Amino acid sequence: MNLIIKIFYLFSLLIKYTLSDAILPGASNETLEVALRSQRDISKPIPIDQLSVSGLSLSSIFENNVYNTESLSNLTTLLNKGTQAIMIDLYWNEFTSIWQLCPAPFPQNSSSAINNTPSIIWNNQTYSCDLELTTDYVMEVITSYITSTNTDYQANFLHILVNLKSIHYEKSNQTIELENIYKPTPETTSVGNSTLSETFALMSSYIFGPSTLNDYRSKVQEEEENHEFVSFYNRSDIIMPSLTTVLLSEYKRLMVNVISDETIDSRRSYTINELDKNMIFFNDTLPTNTMSILEADDYCKQVLVPTNGLRQFNNLSLSTHFRYVIDSKSVPFTLKNIRRYVRCGLSPIFNSTTYNVGNLSNTINSSDIEQVYQAYAPYYFWSWSPGQPEIMENTTRNNSGDPDESRNVAYKCVYLQNDGWHVGDCYERFEFACQNKTSPNDWLIQKENKKTYFEIGKEDCPDGFNFSLPRSNIEMLSLLTAVDLQNGTYPIWIDLNDITIATCYVSGGPYAQCPYQRTVTSQRFARMIAPASVICIIVLILILLEKIFRKNHIQANRKRYWKKKLNDYYKLNDYEGVPS
Ligand SMILES: *[C@@H]1O[C@H](CO)[C@@H](O)[C@H](O)[C@H]1NC(C)=O
Ligand SMILES: *[C@@H]1O[C@H](CO)[C@@H](O)[C@H](O)[C@H]1NC(C)=O
Ligand SMILES: *[C@@H]1O[C@H](CO)[C@@H](O)[C@H](O)[C@H]1NC(C)=O
Ligand SMILES: *[C@@H]1O[C@H](CO)[C@@H](O)[C@H](O)[C@H]1NC(C)=O
Ligand SMILES: *[C@@H]1O[C@H](CO)[C@@H](O)[C@H](O)[C@H]1NC(C)=O
Ligand SMILES: *[C@@H]1O[C@H](CO)[C@@H](O)[C@H](O)[C@H]1NC(C)=O
Ligand SMILES: *[C@@H]1O[C@H](CO)[C@@H](O)[C@H](O)[C@H]1NC(C)=O
Ligand SMILES: *[C@@H]1O[C@H](CO)[C@@H](O)[C@H](O)[C@H]1NC(C)=O
Repeated sequence: MNLIIKIFYLFSLLIKYTLSDAILPGASNETLEVALRSQRDISKPIPIDQLSVSGLSLSSIFENNVYNTESLSNLTTLLNKGTQAIMIDLYWNEFTSIWQLCPAPFPQNSSSAINNTPSIIWNNQTYSCDLELTTDYVMEVITSYITSTNTDYQANFLHILVNLKSIHYEKSNQTIELENIYKPTPETTSVGNSTLSETFALMSSYIFGPSTLNDYRSKVQEEEENHEFVSFYNRSDIIMPSLTTVLLSEYKRLMVNVISDETIDSRRSYTINELDKNMIFFNDTLPTNTMSILEADDYCKQVLVPTNGLRQFNNLSLSTHFRYVIDSKSVPFTLKNIRRYVRCGLSPIFNSTTYNVGNLSNTINSSDIEQVYQAYAPYYFWSWSPGQPEIMENTTRNNSGDPDESRNVAYKCVYLQNDGWHVGDCYERFEFACQNKTSPNDWLIQKENKKTYFEIGKEDCPDGFNFSLPRSNIEMLSLLTAVDLQNGTYPIWIDLNDITIATCYVSGGPYAQCPYQRTVTSQRFARMIAPASVICIIVLILILLEKIFRKNHIQANRKRYWKKKLNDYYKLNDYEGVPS
């Protein structure tokens, strides 16, 4: 009896654990969640500079010059929903020699203001800055997001973009009075730190910085890696580690990249020190392009030329660059242009406070961060088409309803349309995409004999080519261009499916294994919590039966037998899961 009580106790713990795991705050839309996770997994072998992310500026959530801690709850929400870039304006306060978030200096009497939130007039603008909104507070919000998602299943890579600015004054006879008003006090210096590396010190163990990059480069030059695609990307002008390497071998979660330095030169200005240079990227250590909407339109026009050849795509794939497009209050992103920017490889940073969330023909302006996210998030993906992957209740059927034509149906395979990827019925016959094994932007569309996803085998692509899928913005773009040039007809199969575990998309044919088998099944399990007690009883009976009838070793032998069989099968077919 004791044993049964113990087992019941264990089960209740298990259920509690899986439930708390499944209900992440803010992450409510399963389609978006699955799209984000699968796109990340597919991109894992690709260098981090080739992968676009989406994000927002911190100043856009401090509406009307109100800098307070309440607004930061929106940052937490958006991080949980999958925002991967945060642009932060840091102000060097020349009166106090502190990096702070408020664009105005705090007067000495600030702390006597109601709620610690003085109204400050600076350069003809009125700011309301909370003394509690310290840089450490923002770093804590980001760090707690990172630690709460630091598992193989959830980990992603964040880009922290920094604009350096000055709170500047000219020192002269007339400004002595000014210096007295803004003289540092314990309250006004506790809003930030006196160096950049101290400002980001809270998350330093997660930062992928110049010193990490240099270590990696010297390691790579020593040992030539075997993976074909890695070796293709290793020909780039600056060697960048892949997403897998950064997340799962270096255990880094973010980089801090100073994208602009508008500090005003004076005797009280900040000098960048060695510690900063080891931790933070500056434009001379990391090529970064930030574009306005106008510049991005020009850039995309050049990239999206329909006759672009392999040489242009390889040039894009091999020139190391982080590329961002940042909008403004006067020219915000629209639903129409956002997808175009992602398509040509840019990472959009939302910097305005109001967006049109209506469909393409009518205008509904919204400043509500969640509403804007709902409207724009489906367009963030270079891979999935908006609204995909559709999560269906019944993805398989044995009979299509018509008794004469009994046919299998399985909505578990992914095909390409000109607007992105869609989930479709694996039994449909489509053309399919073959990729040059050593040159990922080189595609061949197999048009002659259409096949079902299950039928496509190793021998169906010509020598040197594999049935495959694009893993980055530019690989996707080169595939779309190849379809045009070779007169392919959509839909076209790419090698991606969730046959083994629902919503766990993997490449490597129908037998590819989900790397998160346990996590995903336990989450599904948590969603069917209602019949859990029934499962409990069944499992209990099974455990008891096993206790009674167990014969040692047989179980283990069989396991080994199947493992060997599977391994032989994989070896024979040269399959590999995502991530490898
Ligand atoms: C601080 O002092 C300035 C004048 O030096 C005054 O205008 C302002 O109202 C004071 N603020 C508070 C919160 O006392
Ligand atoms: C502030 O406004 C006044 C008059 O409105 C103007 O003379 C002055 O140049 C402005 N100062 C700044 C820094 O913009
Ligand atoms: C500053 O004050 C000194 C005397 O106190 C005077 O000689 C000098 O001209 C002043 N400079 C300016 C720029 O006003
Ligand atoms: C940064 O400043 C805050 C507030 O003054 C302080 O608590 C923290 O220890 C400082 N961090 C470092 C690394 O010095
Ligand atoms: C890409 O092309 C540009 C000029 O068009 C050239 O300067 C650059 O070196 C090329 N990069 C690579 C990696 O081939
Ligand atoms: C941020 O969140 C608060 C509630 O926590 C909300 O009142 C506020 O409107 C949000 N800010 C924006 C810009 O949506
Ligand atoms: C989830 O997001 C997709 C777009 O990716 C949208 O079509 C769908 O309506 C959303 N579902 C809910 C419940 O909001
Ligand atoms: C694959 O790409 C490489 C490098 O561009 C090229 O040398 C090779 O000929 C291509 N393979 C085939 C079968 O076309």
